[in-house]
Amino acid sequence: MQIKNVVIIGSGTMGCGIAAQLCNAKIPVTLLDLTTEISEKARERIHKSRPPLLIDKSKINNISIGNINDDFNIVSQADWIVEAVVERIDVKHSIYEKIFKERKHGAIVSSNTSSIPIKVLSEKLSEEEKKDFCITHFFNPVRYMDLLEIVKSPNNNIEKINSLKKFCEEDLGKGTIICSDTPGFLGNRIGVYAMQVAMTEAFKMKLSIEEADAVFGRPMGIPKTGVFGLYDLIGIDLMADVLKSFIKELPENDEFQIVAKEIPMVKKLIETGYTGRKGKGGFYRVNKIDNKKILEAINLETGEYSTSKKINLGIERIDINNLIKRDDKYGEYAWSVISKIIKYASSLVPGITDKFNDIDEAMRLGFNWTKGPFEMLNEIGVKSFFERIDKFENNNFLENLSKNKNENFYGERQKYTQMETLGKIKPKAIKLDKNNSAEIYRFNDFNIVEFTTKANALDYDSMDSLKNATDKPLIIINESMQFSAGVNLSYTMDFADKGDFKSIEKFVKYFQDTCKHLKYSKYPVVSAPSGLTLGGGFEVLVQSNFVASHTNIVVGLVETLVGLIPAGGGCKEMLWRWSKSEQAKKDPDYASLKVFDIIGYAKTATSPIEAEPLKYLKPEDKKIMSRNSLLSVSKEILSNNKNFTPSPECTFNLSGKVVREKMIKLLENLYNDKIILDHGMEVGKELAYVLSGGDTTIDKKLTEDDLFKLELNAFMKLIETQKTQERIKHTLATGKPLVN
Ligand code: NAI
Repeated sequence: MQIKNVVIIGSGTMGCGIAAQLCNAKIPVTLLDLTTEISEKARERIHKSRPPLLIDKSKINNISIGNINDDFNIVSQADWIVEAVVERIDVKHSIYEKIFKERKHGAIVSSNTSSIPIKVLSEKLSEEEKKDFCITHFFNPVRYMDLLEIVKSPNNNIEKINSLKKFCEEDLGKGTIICSDTPGFLGNRIGVYAMQVAMTEAFKMKLSIEEADAVFGRPMGIPKTGVFGLYDLIGIDLMADVLKSFIKELPENDEFQIVAKEIPMVKKLIETGYTGRKGKGGFYRVNKIDNKKILEAINLETGEYSTSKKINLGIERIDINNLIKRDDKYGEYAWSVISKIIKYASSLVPGITDKFNDIDEAMRLGFNWTKGPFEMLNEIGVKSFFERIDKFENNNFLENLSKNKNENFYGERQKYTQMETLGKIKPKAIKLDKNNSAEIYRFNDFNIVEFTTKANALDYDSMDSLKNATDKPLIIINESMQFSAGVNLSYTMDFADKGDFKSIEKFVKYFQDTCKHLKYSKYPVVSAPSGLTLGGGFEVLVQSNFVASHTNIVVGLVETLVGLIPAGGGCKEMLWRWSKSEQAKKDPDYASLKVFDIIGYAKTATSPIEAEPLKYLKPEDKKIMSRNSLLSVSKEILSNNKNFTPSPECTFNLSGKVVREKMIKLLENLYNDKIILDHGMEVGKELAYVLSGGDTTIDKKLTEDDLFKLELNAFMKLIETQKTQERIKHTLATGKPLVN
């Protein structure tokens, strides 16, 4: 079965997200709602969405729209009809009646329901109709959340379900897990339980919400929104509805019932309009005091708000063992929450799935956890876990494990997909080296470097790993969300604070040497980015020989925002790319001015389609919807380039002062219009010096090393200024740029 045309009924949050992802996959799609006006507004929302749901905004009109009365005949042309209307069974039933009258024979019909069992959804369908009906549960926002749960029924034609799965994996790029018809399926059953445990334990142990979020967050490999932050993000009222549905659907003796009980404070927040970020605030709120925005946090005992306090646990990286062994309330809270999640998740095996591994994958793909409950158990170690856990009656999984004490119970990962992913092949590889920032794996005929720091920020160790891995063809790829958010600014600031600028210079020089080494080493280097690929991360990519990019990348040179300029070859490579353009052949200053504009404004692209016109990516770079296939595409690139030879070194003819004067004029205009301030002017001038080639003339040939030197000098001048340091500190503290 081939899916060439899709109709979505219901153009709300989910209908929009699914339509946009189909549009991204170049599949013709129609959105139908009660009225065409509603669908039209939905299409506008897709166009304006941030982060963007579309990879290429200019393709918005490839999403057709209409209403369910006048345009329903379009359903007869669809190979797949997705129902994404409100979560009301009467509305859904009447839509199915209409769909099954109109659809072509054999077309798949699915619901995006998050809580209604398939047996209830399909109770009015004929046996023949049931064969083609399933649940396709996408997560919001669809472009960015990798999980798709397909819930099948015993009536389904399994081949059809498998081909739908294949389409969703390969064309839509979703991590697709087949689930049974149990309440909340896999992701929400465990994910919502985990949130409830984290919340109820925080109340019980008298932790502040900031403390709970600091533990149930990065140190556990969970997004930093934590639990109370996530509650505010989802909507406290929506969470209450979700809980009601679980209470109704789950048996009375299910452990979930204990943590799903209504909490008086939560009830009061909803009643008073404190429904989270979309309302007046929630557990956190932003209050304006003396015209200043102050983040406040609720006190779980009194319900009063006060200025939110930053909690520093002193944990830089995910380390569950260290966390649960802490001899303080944080350690106790972490153990209590983690052990309960492990107990609950394992109690559901084989009830909700016979592959425990799928639960971990659902948590990873649907909730952005780094490790699922069973991987946490694996990390804690079977022996240590059973030494500390109290009781686990009626839990077959844990009873068996406590008997066989198999420390290697985990086995293979990512069983849900046939694709050869990094997660699957890593356990079979030889780990050549590991330092604080990266790991090197050796396969038969190639190496892999995986960065391992927070947001994969780069430092000396990251460069060391890259340099040491070029004795074979190399793929730079990772399993975490970001390819690399750039150079580690805290690492750089630690030196700056001590006045140790020599060490910064040494690091930048090593960064440059490593990138040059990647570019010209004997064997090909492939970068396979996904997520943030900024600053130094982009410089690694741009000096790799090949790129296999996921369509969800955010790419750009953003150094000027923190008062710096790209100094790992970013200026050099962008100059080179633009100097080969048609316009540059006619105008010797074209490339310098163009790159000055791109880097000066710290322009970023949110997809490869946006990245190409900026020349952050090249037309020949591979652009891939499915993150799971980044590795196999990278491997294919290597096998197609067995006779690789690096290209000759680049040289540059730049006009020096001539183009620099044009740049300074541009800066002066911005300064006079107060778009940039004093330090913006300084940074702009340094950038202009580099991109104009410094003290040169158009007839002189500059080498890559000359450009590296210019970058390094400008970087060092800027990092030594107090105003750049202020910018960096501000960004580290707030995540936002400082204009000074
Ligand atoms: P929504 O409330 O944003 O949108 C529902 C849309 O359906 C509205 O545009 C409404 O006008 C339309 N609609 C209502 N009756 C209709 C009818 N008879 N014919 C055509 N259109 C009709 O809802 P949302 O959030 O998009 O949810 C849709 C489905 O997806 C629900 O079943 C929900 O449980 C599920 N879901 C929602 C998630 C979320 O995060 N919002 C996540 C996963 C699943």
